[in-house]
Amino acid sequence: EKGGYDHFMIKEIMEQDEAIRSTLLGRVDRGRVRLDELEALQEELKNAERIYITACGTAYHAGMVGAYLLRHVAGLDVEIEVASEFRYAKHHWRENSVGLVISQSGETADTLQALRMMKADGIPVIAVVNVVGSSVYREADASLLTQAGPEIAVASTKAYSTQLVVLYLFALYMAKLKGLLTQEEEQNILEDLWSIPEKVKQVLSNAESVRRIAQDTYKANDIFFIGRQLDYMLALEGSLKLKEISYIHSEAFPAGELKHGPLALVTADTPTLAILMQEDVLEKTLSNVSEVKARQGDVFVLGFERDRKRLEDIGRWSFFVPDTLPLLAPLVGIPVLQLFAYYNAVLRGTDVDKPRNLAKSVTVE
Ligand code: F6R
Repeated sequence: EKGGYDHFMIKEIMEQDEAIRSTLLGRVDRGRVRLDELEALQEELKNAERIYITACGTAYHAGMVGAYLLRHVAGLDVEIEVASEFRYAKHHWRENSVGLVISQSGETADTLQALRMMKADGIPVIAVVNVVGSSVYREADASLLTQAGPEIAVASTKAYSTQLVVLYLFALYMAKLKGLLTQEEEQNILEDLWSIPEKVKQVLSNAESVRRIAQDTYKANDIFFIGRQLDYMLALEGSLKLKEISYIHSEAFPAGELKHGPLALVTADTPTLAILMQEDVLEKTLSNVSEVKARQGDVFVLGFERDRKRLEDIGRWSFFVPDTLPLLAPLVGIPVLQLFAYYNAVLRGTDVDKPRNLAKSVTVE
């Protein structure tokens, strides 16, 4: 049932190229995005001014990428908060608001309650969900399915990458509705999106080099992740994956925040994984990497192949992924971080598929 793999988690990591392809299938038609599921909400979406995003854990991290995309590509005002906070917060709903909830299982109690709260206040809610027939799927006004297939390992992997895919498509869809995207821009992004399964496959075929890096890091007590903008959002997910299955203490920081506190923690014993994929802020993050190195901290650089020359001598370890638009970096970067978490956990001998204290579906508050 594990298809020859040692754990469901690695099987699911390795299935991601196919899961991404299935999620794209039928949603791109001659260079244009197509989301038939949203037809009934056309008017609300056309008039939408603010999007409220909420979710838990990994799905929340996907939501953060979604928020970035809706702001940058679709020019929307976005508010985002984890569901366990969102549902108890005081909201001053704007007119023309739309809710967006993200959930693999569709049964997470806090996410479901947040959805119900928005609906009760008259806000239409769209769900990005993996399980057909789940509570979130049934109660949302429209559901965009991730075609990840069943995810068995507690740590979410292919659900995250397919949530991202749906969020890219949704952001493009909204940008079009708002008249903010030329046909050419749409085609460019979609072309790159279609190349992702192949590129993810290339990254996965290089798993062994990630395992070798983990051999140097698995004894660490703390590992930090840094990045800016989309790289920071990806860092959050990499760090969560690592802590939940390897039990190595880990935190992700926006690179610019290092000198506001976290730098006090950096020593020769704390490796830092620096994500350097967002060209616009790359130099800024590089200066933060120097701060880490000045404290004797070892650095693992994650970057694009096109920057290899520029970045390869910076860290003690590095991994370069196939080039994409910087906007799509999380899709090619995430497999590396998942593999990194996985191999650190395997080397530490933890129960990878069923980490202590965690359940696959959190139906209690
Ligand atoms: C982390 C993980 C959890 C879930 C979270 C939400 O690997 O699996 O953080 O992402 O519990 O679950 P869903 O998406 O089912 O609502």
